Parts: sequence; C-alpha cells; structure tokens
Amino acid sequence: DETTARRKDAHLDLCATGDVEPAQNSTLLEDVHLIHCAMPEMAVEDVDLSTPFLGKRLQAPLLVTGMTGGTDRAGTVNRDLALLAERHGLAFGVGSQRAMAEDTARAASYAVRDVAPTVALLGNIGLYQAIGLGVDGVRRLMDAIGADGMALHLNAGQELTQPEGDRDFRGGYRVVEELARAFGDRLLVKETGCGIGPDVARRLVELGVRNVDVSGLGGTSWVRVEQLRAVGSQAQVGAEFSGWGIPTAAAIASVRKAVGPEVRLVASGGVRGGLESAKVLALGADLAGMALPLFRAQQQGGLPAAEEALKVILTGLRQALVLTGSRSVAQLRQRPRVVTGALKDWLAAL
Ligand code: FNR
Repeated sequence: DETTARRKDAHLDLCATGDVEPAQNSTLLEDVHLIHCAMPEMAVEDVDLSTPFLGKRLQAPLLVTGMTGGTDRAGTVNRDLALLAERHGLAFGVGSQRAMAEDTARAASYAVRDVAPTVALLGNIGLYQAIGLGVDGVRRLMDAIGADGMALHLNAGQELTQPEGDRDFRGGYRVVEELARAFGDRLLVKETGCGIGPDVARRLVELGVRNVDVSGLGGTSWVRVEQLRAVGSQAQVGAEFSGWGIPTAAAIASVRKAVGPEVRLVASGGVRGGLESAKVLALGADLAGMALPLFRAQQQGGLPAAEEALKVILTGLRQALVLTGSRSVAQLRQRPRVVTGALKDWLAAL
C-alpha cells in the first residue's frame, strides 16, 4: 500500500544523507592484519578474482546487496547499480519486493534485465512477508524480475525499533525450511546489519540453506534509521540499540568455522573498500557485499560516480592480493594473518 512506498522513500532520504552509520560501531576489520609480502613475484594481471555464484560466474567476488524498489527514484537506483554490476561482472540484488507484492504497478522499479541481461540477480523479501506470501508467492516475485535467486532478509532489530514493526518472531525456521526445499541453492538468507552468528547459521544450513549473507554490525544501522524516524520512548530505545549486533568480522569468521566449505558466504555490513573486502574474503567469505557506499555515490553523482567508487574498491582488492602474494582468494585464505584486539575476544567466545 501507499504507506510501504512512503516509508521506503523516507528510508532512502535518511540513507542518502543521514547519520545512519553510528561512529561508535565497528566491523572489527581493523583488528585483522593481512601480512605484507615484499616480493610478490606476480603481476597485477595474474590476480584471478572470478567466483561462481547462483549458477553464474562473477568476474569479482562482490555483491551489491539489496536496497530498494517501489518508486521511480528507487527504480533509477536499481537500474544504475545493476548496469554497473553487469559491466564489471558483480552480483546485484534488488531491495525488498514487498511494495510490488502489494501493488503490481510498482513492479517496473525492480526490473533491471533490460540493462543487466546476464548479471547474477537476487530478488528480496522479508522473512515475515514470506510467511504471508508462501512459497508460490515468493517464487512469483523472483520470476517476475527474472532473478537467479531470492534473498530472504532478517531484521528483528529494525522491526522492534519501528512503531509499526513486527512484534512476533515465531515460525521463522519453518518458513526457511519450506523455502530452502523449494529454492535449493537459489535461496540466500541475509541479515540487514545486526549479523548472523554461528548458531543461527548452523541451524539455517541444517534446514538446507546454501547461501548466507552475515550482514553484520559496523555499517548501515537499520536500528539507527528507525531511531531517526521514531519519536519519544521508541527513539530512546532505538538510540540504546543502534550499536546492537555482531561485528561483521566476528560474524564471518565464526560462521565460516561453523558451516562447511560448500556453503556460500557473503560478508556485508560496513565493508567499505578493497582492502576490507580482502579481509572478509581471508576470514572465509566467498563474496564481499556492499550497500550504502554505492548507493550514496549513485545519489551524489549517478552512475559515473558509482563507477568511480567501484573502481577504487576493485583496485584496492587486487592490490591487497598482490601485496599478500596471492593470485586468488583461495591463496589469500592460506596466508597467515594477525587477529588482535576485540575481535580476538569475540572469536574466543563464538
Ligand atoms: C538496505 N538493506 C536492505 N536489505 C534487504 O535485505 N532488503 C532491503 O530492502 C534493504 N534496503 C536497504 C536500503 C538501503 C538504502 C540500504 C543502505 C540498505 C540492507 C543492506 O542490504 C545491507 O545488509 C546493510 O545495509 C549492510 O551493508 P552496508 O550498507 O553497511 O554496506
């Protein structure tokens, strides 16, 4: 309905210019130190970043994670970033398709196949909307945009901070199990900035989930976004919880330890550059994911600005591999690294 679209526009405004990345939050990636190799004995062009994902082959292990859809403005964001992903061989996700599930007239703002015919494309829906839609309804959303897979997002922290949000989180695993059975390795389960930890990840994998985006703490905080929209006591609770979550570095390292190598892991949540991407890949991610930095670049300068931002990221990622003497992510993972500070404490507990 109208309120879903209006809320989404308020969210986009806040994400474009608001203080949605609380400075006191951290991914803890600053506690990961890759080790310099003074004699790399390789050329930059020897770096092979290609990665399989959703039955396709990416040229770089990067996912532009789901953000938007439902309005004309959102449609431009989707098309610009999908085209960028197509050009550079990345994966791309649209934002929550709830708006088009409620009103098919909004479907056009999620349609990117004309500009991104071969991109590895993810649809997106919230866990509790998926309960209402059922397997067939979710499949219709995926098919309507020609997606290669479907992202199911978890956002209990955001819902509890949203005055009109969900208050009952029962029945989630049952839906995940049904979707995993129906979609197989086309299903991805993601958080939205509070992180998926090893216990939840293990349970998801037991139910058949084969792709997980841990989306941890340290980047965009949806609790903070809702705090900025809320008033009174709701805003106070939002302020208290805007640092709640599992830091991205702790989430990805502990989840990789908890699940087998066959599970595809994405690490998003505050990953902001090529070196940070290299760090999450070293910790066990198959792909690094990013939302806010590419969204902001697009809002400020359209596709050219987003492409400039992406080039800095890709250059930094290649440079990190060369300077660790790694031709591939597989080699990068075998290199020694140093883990210090709070991340060491997190990993001792998880
Ligand atoms: C998001 N995110 C998100 N996630 C999701 O599954 N469905 C959605 O509709 C949205 N919408 C959305 C809008 C905008 C503007 C942003 C910035 C983000 C969450 C996103 O996919 C990601 O999990 C988090 O933002 C963490 O990554 P970053 O932003 O710190 O790189």
